[in-house]
Amino acid sequence: MNRKTLYDLLNFVTERNLHLISDEIYAGSIYGTEGFVSVAELLDTEDFDKSRVHIVYGLSKDLSLAGLRVGVIYSYNANVLAATSKLTRFCEISTPTRRLLISMLSDTKFMNEYLKINRKRLGKMFALFAEGLNQHGVECFKSSAGFYCWADMSKFLRLYSEGGELVLWESLLNSGKVNITPLSSSHCIEPGWLLRDAN
Ligand SMILES: Cc1ncc(COP(=O)(O)O)c(C=O)c1O
Repeated sequence: MNRKTLYDLLNFVTERNLHLISDEIYAGSIYGTEGFVSVAELLDTEDFDKSRVHIVYGLSKDLSLAGLRVGVIYSYNANVLAATSKLTRFCEISTPTRRLLISMLSDTKFMNEYLKINRKRLGKMFALFAEGLNQHGVECFKSSAGFYCWADMSKFLRLYSEGGELVLWESLLNSGKVNITPLSSSHCIEPGWLLRDAN
């Protein structure tokens, strides 16, 4: 998300007296030309109410460590911090996991190299995947981060509706043995968009 959109979001939550939860789990998986901007950067330079902003992050994406179940809440709100520090009692990270992560994350040389190669490969795989689909006349949404590819498969729908999308999903699963998420499950308003891990 670019700086301008984040700025607009911060203005929106301020005007409406809301809180902003910024999920930055793909921060290190950007392969586009625009770099990653954390909402924390704007809070450091602009005069917003920091207590309504909470950042979440986890190791599942950038480091492919989903199995370790390690995440972070970075909040400027004393009440949120007090509540979450009490909750950590029930979901502590095990000692072997901590030892592994300390040695891995503190190895700056390894981390920099790993993230660099990972970003390069993500971009390459997305380009290959999207090109393959394009050859079959399937357009993909332009992507610059993460593992996923939004593909417009509406031309394969028998019925242009959410129901038609589910029929297509089921036939891809049963005949092609490929599980592709129908985007109606993510409230996409146009039927026919499906999501697939490109990697
Ligand atoms: C944007 C985003 N945030 C958070 C998560 C949660 O990841 P996990 O539960 O594996 O830590 C996901 C997983 O797909 C995600 O796509």
